[in-house]
Amino acid sequence: MLKFILVAALVGAAFSNPESKIDRALLSSLETKQVANVMVSFVGGNVKVVSGIENMKFASRTQRITTLKADLESQAEVSQENVRNYLTAHKSHFKTFWISNQIYITGATRQLVEAIVSFPEVAEIHEERIIELDSPVAPKSSRTPGILAEWGIEKIQAEEAWEISNGTGIVVSNIDTGVRYTHEAVRDNYRADYGWYDPYAETATPNDGNGHGTHTMGTIAGSMGIGVAPGSTWVACKGCSTSSCTESALIGCGEWVTCPTLPDGTEPDCSKAPHLSSNSWGGGRGDLWYEPVTEAWIAAGIVPLFSIGNSGSGCGTSNSPGDQRRVIGVGSTNVDDEISYYSSVGPAADGRIKPGSLITYPLADFPKRFSYVIHLLPNESMNLFSEISAPGEDVRSSVPDSDTSYG
Ligand SMILES: *[C@@H]1O[C@H](CO)[C@@H](O)[C@H](O)[C@H]1NC(C)=O
Ligand SMILES: *[C@@H]1O[C@H](CO)[C@@H](O)[C@H](O)[C@H]1NC(C)=O
Repeated sequence: MLKFILVAALVGAAFSNPESKIDRALLSSLETKQVANVMVSFVGGNVKVVSGIENMKFASRTQRITTLKADLESQAEVSQENVRNYLTAHKSHFKTFWISNQIYITGATRQLVEAIVSFPEVAEIHEERIIELDSPVAPKSSRTPGILAEWGIEKIQAEEAWEISNGTGIVVSNIDTGVRYTHEAVRDNYRADYGWYDPYAETATPNDGNGHGTHTMGTIAGSMGIGVAPGSTWVACKGCSTSSCTESALIGCGEWVTCPTLPDGTEPDCSKAPHLSSNSWGGGRGDLWYEPVTEAWIAAGIVPLFSIGNSGSGCGTSNSPGDQRRVIGVGSTNVDDEISYYSSVGPAADGRIKPGSLITYPLADFPKRFSYVIHLLPNESMNLFSEISAPGEDVRSSVPDSDTSYG
């Protein structure tokens, strides 16, 4: 099935039979449910624009991202025009995405799907994916919370690193279940200005009905001894409303991370883009569905970080998108420096070592302090061999029960 999707996306235009552009799972879904929420991809995707921008020099990072967004929007405008007109004429509910050059349609019938694939510029159509968060694993033993730094912070010698940088000047984001932004560990470094987007309900301020996102943000940026980079500022996008995340929300968050908007989705300002995006959701193997977004992030100078997954301990269990070529996929270790029994391990579907990948970013216009942190780099590009596994088991962090709760 997976291979079918990929092949269809790549050579969709070459097929003489438009039916072959319809994902088979979508066909059977339409038989049982009559309607489905679908994602439509276009021939060429965003590849040309993104690789063009990645190889260009810009005077500033903002200029880089603003140009990327404008070029992707024009590309989407042209590719999607006929289908958009058709959908409007047929009063369909749809949303267009510039980042991946896709259209999301809710409540599509078989008849509509067949009409859509008859457009030669349409490459593929599939039912919207539902992606799972890496669900928390209960601790084997309870640790007594202390006022000192958490064990993971000590283990990676974060405090020693803070003498060089504690993250000051760096904006981090997660795409997760949201964040309880009034929590004492994260309230001081939330960036209220262009700091929050919730594609499900466009809520005005950060919220987290699940707890996953408050916990991950605490580990990333929290004070009170729980965070790795307490001097950074954070923003967040609610890609997951519960323990699962819809494809359209994750793509929407991919757009927002690249060029943030106000909480109601208006007034984009690409100068507000974070420097990295941390994500602990995924599934499947060798599945490139999110690659158009992560490649756009890389061209924008936004580092994509993904959990490698909790599908271990068997070999070949690294999850997508963490297993992608240019994504930093991160494994989990325990207090004894062993790989957590549940952490996914490689190799990736194509045999690459994962977690771990050679990543090259255009870094010339990154903030100085960040460049300093990675000063081992031989030249302007960031060539990071990221064999990263880090404390991820029995980790205490902020939880949203109250503004002073940890778990
Ligand atoms: C981070 O480091 C800066 C100095 O570079 C300091 O002013 C700031 O208070 C530190 N922030 C935290 C949260 O420790
Ligand atoms: C930068 O370093 C990488 C390897 O670390 C190398 O492949 C590349 O050629 C270097 N680029 C320049 C311009 O020296």
